Amino acid sequence: MKIHHEKTRSMVRKAYGTVAKKSVSCCPGSSCCGPAPAAAEGELGLSCGSPVAFSRIKKGMTVLDLGSGAGKDVFIAAPLAGAKGRVIGVDMTGEMLKLAAKNLVKFTARTGLKNVEFRKGLIEKLPVKSGEADLVISNCVVNLSPDKPEVFREAFRALKPGGVIVVSDIVLNRELPPALKKHAGLYAACVAGALQRPDYLGAIKDAGFKGLKLLTDNTYRSEGGCSDPITNKAAKALDGAASSITVYARKPGGRK
Ligand SMILES: C[S@@+](CC[C@H](N)C(=O)[O-])C[C@H]1O[C@@H](n2cnc3c(N)ncnc32)[C@H](O)[C@@H]1O
Repeated sequence: MKIHHEKTRSMVRKAYGTVAKKSVSCCPGSSCCGPAPAAAEGELGLSCGSPVAFSRIKKGMTVLDLGSGAGKDVFIAAPLAGAKGRVIGVDMTGEMLKLAAKNLVKFTARTGLKNVEFRKGLIEKLPVKSGEADLVISNCVVNLSPDKPEVFREAFRALKPGGVIVVSDIVLNRELPPALKKHAGLYAACVAGALQRPDYLGAIKDAGFKGLKLLTDNTYRSEGGCSDPITNKAAKALDGAASSITVYARKPGGRK
């Protein structure tokens, strides 16, 4: 089981290592999650939504971003958390972390803030202490994990009682054709590894979270805009099969 998980991670790491080196967002369905507006620090946003926009970040909060990539959401969250707060981005891909470090230099020069840290690690085994975070965010990453329930258990552990998770991600609305389900490129593109919607929400609840709310829900519609006919065929098969959602949930306890 573990070897199988490492094989999946290694495929994902390779895909995002390449994306980080090229430093460009790419066509959905090819090798990475879909393009998004560029981050304040420039290069690369590979997201499914805007978790920070729904997170009500207050000064002094500790925010943890699972699969922080080039740091897009980290750099949006950091000014909101302010000098007394902290934002920690966790990612497993060395090349992405290098890009995030480059972006951090620009961010610090622009804002004067020194409240951001990137840590290398797995979202299934977060390199943080239990109860360290007020808020966990994640943007188009959990679908890439070979063990999604473990990611949500880890997020739960990392949060203080009363802490909140806001996660944007891809879920499936129906089973994918077997050929697409096994397609490595489509896995790295954040689709083939996605869970069915009830299973995804169930994994969040099973980790112990309460008060789940669906904050956004957008169904994927194929526009067939790629020049590659294979990608176009896959896009047709995917029409309506997946949605990008943003989910809010709370760890019980703490002050109301
Ligand atoms: C689609 S990108 C999203 C990056 C960022 N959240 C954004 O919105 O731009 C996915 C990122 O998650 C990281 N990642 C994927 N699986 C991971 C895992 N199991 N543990 C840690 N990082 C992971 C990848 O290295 C990549 O940087």
